[in-house]
Amino acid sequence: MSDNLQRMRDAYYGRMAQRGLTPLWTVMTEAVPSEPVANCEPVFWDFAADIRPALFEAGELISAEEAQRRVLMLNNPALQRGTTKTLLCAIQMIKEGEIAPAHRHTQSALRFVIEGGGAYTAINGEKTSMNPGDLILTPAWFWHDHGKDSKGPMIWLDGLDIPLVNHLGATFSEEFDERRYPEARPAEDSRARYGSGLLPLEPVVSTSHSPVFRYPYDTTRQALEALRRTNEWDPCHGLKLRYSNPLSGEFVLPTIAAFIQLLPRGFSGAPYRSTESTIVMAVEGRGRAHVGNRTFSFGPHDIFVIPNWTWTTLEADVDAVLFSYSDRAALEKLALLRQQRSNEARSGM
Ligand SMILES: [Fe+2]
Repeated sequence: MSDNLQRMRDAYYGRMAQRGLTPLWTVMTEAVPSEPVANCEPVFWDFAADIRPALFEAGELISAEEAQRRVLMLNNPALQRGTTKTLLCAIQMIKEGEIAPAHRHTQSALRFVIEGGGAYTAINGEKTSMNPGDLILTPAWFWHDHGKDSKGPMIWLDGLDIPLVNHLGATFSEEFDERRYPEARPAEDSRARYGSGLLPLEPVVSTSHSPVFRYPYDTTRQALEALRRTNEWDPCHGLKLRYSNPLSGEFVLPTIAAFIQLLPRGFSGAPYRSTESTIVMAVEGRGRAHVGNRTFSFGPHDIFVIPNWTWTTLEADVDAVLFSYSDRAALEKLALLRQQRSNEARSGM
């Protein structure tokens, strides 16, 4: 190409930029790559060494009332804010006698309890207890408050779709006039109606979120133990189950899928990747996750990020249980979920 033509092109690009026009041919590879480029970094947080002491320090410095929520957000270094491009992970602590005031928002949220006991979440005025290993849902636009009457602090993981909902420009939130939303139903009502393998006699209309607000850990753990006897280990995932909406079989929230996973002692998984952005918290046991070019040694309550389209392999030194959540519920609705196991063609094409 002659210097003259290059100058004319550069001048043209400059004039177009002033008019808000971008020639596609100059950005084609970046705009439409042949396969996804990971949009955040693999990253790891050590719970015992970093997160837990930081929370207790915040417990001395900040009251729950001052802070509204005593929460530390886990920030991906590749992003301005957010744990992945679509999801947020944060760790919350509530102390004896504290109430985290009632509010609601269009973001969907889940909690996974890490330690402590005797706290509750109230969802639209229905209390549900919180115990270690329990998964608690607070669906979009449901009033929720948390409180703790018993001794000692309680810590849980908060998982939300804040980055996704903000990106879509659909964020609304509202504070309730009083600290607690008034009691509207007996405690554990939704679990009794929908969460025990029984359903109300009359037809019930399925909603975009699960009607069950609490998935207790003892039930979850028993399911994993019973299934391990079949020895049907997935080469990549070990034994992985998804939390589900009992009315539809769908994921528990419209945007967020949640999973529990058992890796048996000595497990050495095959590589796997998908278009999901995933946040993983170890619940029990120890092992390693090779995520892209990083290796993370995980123990109880350590947290790591598996970015989209990033090869990952899992290993367990002893029996390990992993809780994870991802944007798969949204991806499936948009027909954007693709998965690949090592030496396999991409599925979902
Ligand atoms: Fe909230």
